[in-house]
Amino acid sequence: MLVLGIESSCDETAAAIVRGGREILSSVISSQVDIHKRFGGVVPELASREHLDKIVPVVEEAFARAGVAQEELDGIAVTQGPGLVGSLLVGVSYAKALAYALEKPFVGVNHIEGHIYSVVFDNPPIEYPAFALVVSGGHTNLFLVPEPGKYKVLARTRDDAAGEAFDKVAKMLGLGYPGGPVIERLAREGDPRAVRFSVPRMGDGRPDFSFSGLKTAVSKHVRESGLKALAEGETPTQPVKDLAASFQDVVIRSLVGTTERLAAEYRPRTLIVAGGVACNEALREASRAAASRMGVSALFPSRHLSTDNAAMIAAAGTVKLLAGERADLDLNADVSLRLQNIDVEDDALRRSRVRYRL
Ligand code: KG4
Ligand code: ZN
Repeated sequence: MLVLGIESSCDETAAAIVRGGREILSSVISSQVDIHKRFGGVVPELASREHLDKIVPVVEEAFARAGVAQEELDGIAVTQGPGLVGSLLVGVSYAKALAYALEKPFVGVNHIEGHIYSVVFDNPPIEYPAFALVVSGGHTNLFLVPEPGKYKVLARTRDDAAGEAFDKVAKMLGLGYPGGPVIERLAREGDPRAVRFSVPRMGDGRPDFSFSGLKTAVSKHVRESGLKALAEGETPTQPVKDLAASFQDVVIRSLVGTTERLAAEYRPRTLIVAGGVACNEALREASRAAASRMGVSALFPSRHLSTDNAAMIAAAGTVKLLAGERADLDLNADVSLRLQNIDVEDDALRRSRVRYRL
């Protein structure tokens, strides 16, 4: 089955052609980082205009690189949400128009489900039940995936996403955008114990994440220790590297600690870590170590598939198309599309492995 994936939920215009849900024939990504950089974050209006400019050449390039003709497609998969409405609409409208013109079936894909499917490439098959920790600039969720296509949110962020925290802290320190890669680089030369940040716990006892208090703690530390944001071209000092390392360390402790605690209850067979923040080698290392303590295998996407791309959308879409799912031309972008689709009591899920037959 040959599927065209289209992704335009945030600031990357992407198209990919995937065969059989696991083989990437082409994956084209047009990044807008240079446009949004000077604003220190994504500007929605600029993002949608750029998608409009790029969507046609990006899709054409995907066909050209794959050496596939449009008529050969078996279906189209497009990110339906969550994301920025103006950005999503470009991909959704284009996918619908193409599906209509070519008379091909198409499906809408949840962007977060796409991130989870990014591990089907270059990895052994996922063993279920699985845990999927999706950490990006827009999302931080831990899902229980009892079987393909079924999701239950076990923990989510109450405020900022983990990647957003990396971006905001980097902005505070004058390190540029996106913040994750530069903080990771500086953290390698810093001492993670230099500044003591604690992992936030929820007042109501739920295992959720929270990163906005951490951002405030970093800003307080910057003020009190007299650290200055770096001017362009300035070399980061040791205290900045120490702060980067300490910040990154607490984010990882929070993500991995919660995952490990919940894994003891739900006993998954696989731990998937996906999304832009999964590029982070320290997070990968901590997740690998936790997975080995839990006796489960850890799966990560290749680095170029960790951040937004269309191959993961095509992979998730292939499963839906094979299951006979079809979208109508009235499919609309949904900025807050939810992934949780299991509505059973926690206790029933925890009991035994048989419980996963839902
Ligand atoms: O998945 P993605 O491309 O877009 C969203 O769906 O949000 O993730 C982008 C996010 C940004 O916040 C970026 O700072 C973060 O992923 N990121 C990283 C690293 N590389 C990218 N965070 C930590 N360490 C990294 N190496
Ligand atoms: Zn994403």
